Amino acid sequence: MEEVSLKNYKRLVKAAKQAKKNAYTPYSKFRVGAAILTKKGTIYTGCNVENVSYGLTICAERVAVGKAISAAERDFVALALVSDSRHLITPCGACRQIISEFAPNLQIILINKSGKIKITNIKKLLPEPFKLDDKKE
Ligand code: THU
Repeated sequence: MEEVSLKNYKRLVKAAKQAKKNAYTPYSKFRVGAAILTKKGTIYTGCNVENVSYGLTICAERVAVGKAISAAERDFVALALVSDSRHLITPCGACRQIISEFAPNLQIILINKSGKIKITNIKKLLPEPFKLDDKKE
């Protein structure tokens, strides 16, 4: 797992909090912000984007991953996730699989609404992701 400097942790958490402000959540009123740090030091952010057809809602993590991939960035070092909850929310199952596709070892920083932090990683959250071929790593 890649080392992350204190400065980059702070940048990442700040970016996730900022992204949360743009969440489009007229249905759940539950705002989520995510930020991914790349090896180069670039940060890509995402917020949840809900839809009147509820099932089409996109999670903040997936928006952030999509933005990074579409900018040709695939080397991820850490992801910060913040919500309005007093609990430390974790990525949903679908997002775990998406994160794992690009960064099977990614550090995940969970932040609650009052700024409490917990560091975990995607391997812990999704120990056995789906793979097409078990022989490949
Ligand atoms: N949500 C996220 O954006 N990320 C998660 O990890 C969990 C859930 C969003 C989806 C929906 O807009 C709202 O939170 C409530 O489920």
